[in-house]
Amino acid sequence: MAVTEDHEDHEARPGTGDRQHVVVVGQGHVGLPLALRAAEAGFTVTGIDTDEQRVKRLTAGEAGGVGDVPAERLTAALTSGRYLPTTDYADAAGFDICVITVPVPVRDGVPDRGPIEAAGRAIAPHLRPRATVILESTTAPGTTEDLLRPVLEEGSGLTAGSAFHLGYSPERTDPGNTRWRLENTPKVVSGVNVRSLLAVDGFYARIVRNTVPVSSPRTAELTKLIEDTFRQVNIALVNELATVTGPLGADVHEAIEAAATKPYGFLPFHPGPGVGGHRLPVPHGLLRFAALAQEVNDAMPERVVDRIAAGLDVREKALAGARVLLLGLAYKRNSGDLRESPALAVAALLAARGARVHAVEPYADPARLPADVLCVELTEQEAAAADVVVVTTDHDTFDYTMVARAATYVFDTRDRCRGESVERL
Ligand SMILES: NC(=O)c1ccc[n+]([C@@H]2O[C@H](COP(=O)([O-])OP(=O)(O)OC[C@H]3O[C@@H](n4cnc5c(N)ncnc54)[C@H](O)[C@@H]3O)[C@@H](O)[C@H]2O)c1
Repeated sequence: MAVTEDHEDHEARPGTGDRQHVVVVGQGHVGLPLALRAAEAGFTVTGIDTDEQRVKRLTAGEAGGVGDVPAERLTAALTSGRYLPTTDYADAAGFDICVITVPVPVRDGVPDRGPIEAAGRAIAPHLRPRATVILESTTAPGTTEDLLRPVLEEGSGLTAGSAFHLGYSPERTDPGNTRWRLENTPKVVSGVNVRSLLAVDGFYARIVRNTVPVSSPRTAELTKLIEDTFRQVNIALVNELATVTGPLGADVHEAIEAAATKPYGFLPFHPGPGVGGHRLPVPHGLLRFAALAQEVNDAMPERVVDRIAAGLDVREKALAGARVLLLGLAYKRNSGDLRESPALAVAALLAARGARVHAVEPYADPARLPADVLCVELTEQEAAAADVVVVTTDHDTFDYTMVARAATYVFDTRDRCRGESVERL
């Protein structure tokens, strides 16, 4: 099916109900921006989250760096009266559209779809005829139809596809990306039948500029799996290349830039200390590629620390007792998202090997930073006093020229620094 629909005129689409009640389950990096966007588009929005602290903070107008949402945007939604954060599923009563954005945590390599099931059970008693339920969580193909559907049907006594609409639309959040945001990133949409697809598409047509309808929730779920695996595998490929080509004297960064001049069939990915962000819930045994890629990427923090120890050794210094300054702890550039961040793994390994770890992280909530890391501002003195400065996250706000000038030794995992003191991954 894969037809791209352009909704440039979505603000003016008639008959899509300005007073429709939208419930967004999960007010995290995915759910919060979606809830606010829906409120801005004129829907009345209830944002449900089981985390009482998160709801308290949202009610007080504090987004805490979640979903790159600025405080002014949250405050505007709260004061408009069209956005209510709550822990109480009773506030979902009478909803027209419910979007589930709860996480699928990976435990011992196995994705736990329990939160999707729990959200479905909690929302089902509030399901009315003609309402629409959409799953956005990243999950295995089949989850919408085989797991969520029976839970909703059992809890509501209604049938999906006839009494209510059901579909899946994968998330494409990219923390820190100011160019591609929710509203201008094409959204893949699906439904368990054509009527469901139309309902799901009609909702997102008011939220984003372009929708991409596909033939079934399974296909939409697989689309997300392909996108995430593609990223994971390609990062692993360049990480492995960086590891094996270094000793050969070849410059992998320059080679990637050169390869990217090929006008077709190549996309540049860059080496780094790992991947980070939410874990890919690959169904067990489905994708050997993803498992191998994960293994390669998970080994990167250890490789980075080994390289730093070797670099210090050349300078006749030991890692134990060395003062290390990490630039960035978030997993992604210009974001404060610390989840599964490889920079945190690097910090923990350094501390375990006796280094004194200082770090600069301008975006993350200070309360969430590791206790054994001393958080500092990036100054010339701080860079000069370190035995090694490690570029772990390439935030644009860092002054890389100053760092390369002031520091005696820079280990750059993100290819941002140049100079005699700089060693690149
Ligand atoms: N953040 C990203 O960059 C990103 C990108 C693409 C896809 N995703 C996917 O989107 C989904 C959500 O990710 P996120 O980044 O928003 O996670 P998050 O941890 O930031 O937020 C999830 C929220 O859901 C809440 N929650 C958990 N169970 C709940 C329940 N039963 N009822 C109500 N609330 C509940 C949690 O308290 C949390 O606040 C995941 O499946 C993730 O894989 C995330």
